[in-house]
Amino acid sequence: MLKSHKTKEQIMEVTQMLATHSLLINTFLGFLVGGFIVPFITAKNPLGFRKASFIYTMTFQAIITMIAFAGIVAVFTGDLGWSITTIIMMGLWAIMMYIEIQKHKAIKVANLQNEETFRVLKSAFLKISALQILLIVVMMGLMLLKAEGTISI
Ligand code: HEM
Repeated sequence: MLKSHKTKEQIMEVTQMLATHSLLINTFLGFLVGGFIVPFITAKNPLGFRKASFIYTMTFQAIITMIAFAGIVAVFTGDLGWSITTIIMMGLWAIMMYIEIQKHKAIKVANLQNEETFRVLKSAFLKISALQILLIVVMMGLMLLKAEGTISI
């Protein structure tokens, strides 16, 4: 919640940053869902899979970094403080980033010419996308319950 003694401009800025945060999260969700297509369109093309995975990871990092930036700016301009939900978000941010980097590293060094390795990594790509989506959906649910007042954290 906003503390008192804020100027109208500050309140408008924090509102805008949180709206941007929210919009970026929805965009990110769309990107992750769309990303499911990667192992399918490159199903018979190991090098294409590696290249697409690289572009995917770069885009992933760009969007999630913008999400964090908007969130952090909101916390400071709005003097929102570090609520438990904000701390959970920062933890999730680090976990999601870590998983993504590990996945990309694995795809980068693997011998994708080996059919079995290629198959395992395509399947891992899909499972990891599903996990990332789940983490966001859980966070959205948590924030919804918080906004409704069902839980107070
Ligand atoms: C890493 C830095 C991040 C910071 C500093 C941050 C900060 C914030 C703040 C201050 C709010 C408003 C809190 C409130 O209304 O009580 C918020 C809302 C929210 N954040 Fe974050 N956040 C971060 C990352 C993330 C990530 C990675 C996700 C997704 C997994 C996420 C998901 C959400 C959601 C779903 C909301 C509710 C949006 C809405 O009300 O429409 N945040 N965040």
